[in-house]
Amino acid sequence: MLKGRHLIEPGDFSLDEIESIMQLADNIIANPEGYSLVCKGKLLASLFYEPSTRTRFSFEAAMLRLGGEIIGFDDPSNSSVSKGESLGDTIRTIECYSDIAVIRHPREGTARLVSKFAKEMPIINAGDGGHEHPTQTLTDLLTIRKFKGGCDHHVVGVCGDLLFGRTIHSLVKMLNRYQGVKFVFISPKELRMPENILGHLDAHVYTETDNLDEVIGDLDILYMSRVQRERFVSEEEYLRLKNYYVLDKKKMKNAKADMIVMHPLPRVNEIATEVDDDPRAVYFNQAKYGMYVRMALIAKLLGVEDKK
Ligand code: NCD
Repeated sequence: MLKGRHLIEPGDFSLDEIESIMQLADNIIANPEGYSLVCKGKLLASLFYEPSTRTRFSFEAAMLRLGGEIIGFDDPSNSSVSKGESLGDTIRTIECYSDIAVIRHPREGTARLVSKFAKEMPIINAGDGGHEHPTQTLTDLLTIRKFKGGCDHHVVGVCGDLLFGRTIHSLVKMLNRYQGVKFVFISPKELRMPENILGHLDAHVYTETDNLDEVIGDLDILYMSRVQRERFVSEEEYLRLKNYYVLDKKKMKNAKADMIVMHPLPRVNEIATEVDDDPRAVYFNQAKYGMYVRMALIAKLLGVEDKK
């Protein structure tokens, strides 16, 4: 039963619970009108303390397409946060007005912290610093199911900023719960996967390299990512690493005919636009699935999915 629960990291939900969200997303995709009023009279609070395009718009579009409404901010300087209000007080106040809240914050652990203050309102983590981004993971899982038939037995290349990329941290921990998934971590040594994530994995399920060309032919899925400028202490270091990988047509020639290229977006330079027309490039489909999976998640957490 997902009604009333928080989603702070993918490990909060069992595989069966995640499967039920995927199935509901499939049903919504097949029959969006059937769900267009299930959240009528419900309010989602959208609290973005950090920039966002896809996550915020897809959450807001999701709630509106379920017949619900939205309050919130995308610039905390417009709220009492700018007067020094604590996050606990902010959440307790917002709970007086809303049924569910989505929060993105630059500090790791913030979503978990505020969930302790919410008595009845489900809290959804939309990204906490370099830590976790569970709804991007749901988006990624739905995309993998749609294009690869399921999440088991894939060789998954994860390329770019493995150190700071929160979408990567959440996805790797999640995919490790499926059968027979092997990872190839591709990064410069400065941006290697952190030990606390590697610690979740058996040594035989992953390899590490800095050479994308050498491994691209082995992959079923290539998950590209942006170098996370905002998490760097040194701008010089960012500038040195930002164009380390650029996936282009030439590199794609060596990939399997049915490999898919994913990216949580925004992209900066790491995928050349010439790759966009390649049928294996699915990152804009991924962005679209993000809305449907968030519709399913909201309906589940509010316990309204059966009301048609
Ligand atoms: C990601 C994020 O915010 O972590 N974007 C997203 O939500 N789709 C990835 C990123 O910013 O690089």
